[in-house]
Amino acid sequence: MKRYVIHGGRPLRGEVAVSGAKNAAASILPGTLLIDGICRISNVPEISDVKLTIEIMERLGAKVRFTEPGTIEIDGRAVRPQLVPPQLGSRMRASHFFIGSMLGRFGCASAPLPGGCDLGERPIDQHLKGFSLMGASERIEDGIVHVSVPGPLSGREGNGRLKGSRIRFDMVTVGATMNLMLAAALAEGTTVLENAAREPHIIDLAGFLNAMGADVRDAGTETITINGVPSLKGGEYRLIPDQIEAGTYMAAAAAAGGDVKLTGVIPQHMDCISSVLRKMGAEIEEGSDFITVRKRNRVAGADITTLPYPGFPTDLQPQLAAVLCTAEGRSKVTESIWEDRFHYTEELRRMGADITVCGKTAVIEGVSKLHGTAVEACDLRAGAALVIAALAADGKTEIGQVGYIERGYQDMVGKLSGLGADIHLEE
Ligand code: EPU
Repeated sequence: MKRYVIHGGRPLRGEVAVSGAKNAAASILPGTLLIDGICRISNVPEISDVKLTIEIMERLGAKVRFTEPGTIEIDGRAVRPQLVPPQLGSRMRASHFFIGSMLGRFGCASAPLPGGCDLGERPIDQHLKGFSLMGASERIEDGIVHVSVPGPLSGREGNGRLKGSRIRFDMVTVGATMNLMLAAALAEGTTVLENAAREPHIIDLAGFLNAMGADVRDAGTETITINGVPSLKGGEYRLIPDQIEAGTYMAAAAAAGGDVKLTGVIPQHMDCISSVLRKMGAEIEEGSDFITVRKRNRVAGADITTLPYPGFPTDLQPQLAAVLCTAEGRSKVTESIWEDRFHYTEELRRMGADITVCGKTAVIEGVSKLHGTAVEACDLRAGAALVIAALAADGKTEIGQVGYIERGYQDMVGKLSGLGADIHLEE
């Protein structure tokens, strides 16, 4: 079993390049299957979720090859409507994006109910509600979701295309917003998504679709309009940098101390974490495509509540909590997106943190030091939080289950070593 071994207490210094965004790749790679042609996507992060996505694309008939590190060429001409292999699709939340793209292109799609990190209930009712308003019918049988519109492949009379519709989501959902954008790109007529999510990767998906000939408007606002087009063409697209990876290294610098420059970032995407870290006493400097984080003294505690973008991202909640463990005074961390995203607090307590979870809020009494011990990552961001805590802790920490971390962070060990951390991977 793989684990990270970290000797903490060393400040981080130097530069780290931020990789492409995992959650943009999560929808854009399946989105390339909408295209009966060739497209090239660059700045693709080398993470295990991307490897799994590529495996699924290949099983559906796409020809995928790396033309250089971080750039992949996808030839979707031979893609055929078929079941997303359950043993692959059930391992990852983002596999549900194959439903949107296959349904949009072929008028039918079948995929297993998606997996992903255990954060509490993760229903897909809003996705299905959207497809159904666009004229699709669905059934779930033995853990497989089948969605189709009337057309040659469903055996019901029709032209196999979704119909544009007005869809209002009951809550702000990143996944359903993206899935319906994928499905609507090739639909007949106009689709309007109301109460849409506004995350940077939503704008990135729209940028990708438009670069391939789609007509998606106002992504990044709460009402997105998609005028369906009959077909998309191939082309090139570069993914945005990963807001959450960048925020993770900012949090690491705030916890361990030092002076870290993150390059290749979009600083506006980081506003929320930058302002929290500034309030806590870290020095943040921004350039056109970089952010520097300096921390010399102990930071102050803070109260944060996770919210949809542009609020504080839930995917940085565990990492910030790890910083707050050694901040001065009491902090409160409230999780408003997921019902159960505090599993990691148990592991932080084993490192000496004083955290009490009460419903959706964790109350953290800052201690002057954490101490290293053996801990286990229980999901992707939980794993990142343990790494941050270990960098700041006295002594040696061994983190197990690092496969979770590798789902979403490209070469975390190499990047942190480059900043002077004492970290290595043990097989
Ligand atoms: N929801 C429903 N019904 C739905 C869809 C969502 O009730 O049909 C609820 C969820 O249960 C949750 C809330 O709506 O309470 C928001 O869920 P959302 O759909 O926004 O989340 P997601 O698309 O499943 C993505 C990211 C998550 C990230 C969330 C929120 C991917 C693959 N995952 O999940 O990323 O936490 O958006 O920003 O893009 C991570 O990277 O660690 C991660 C978990």
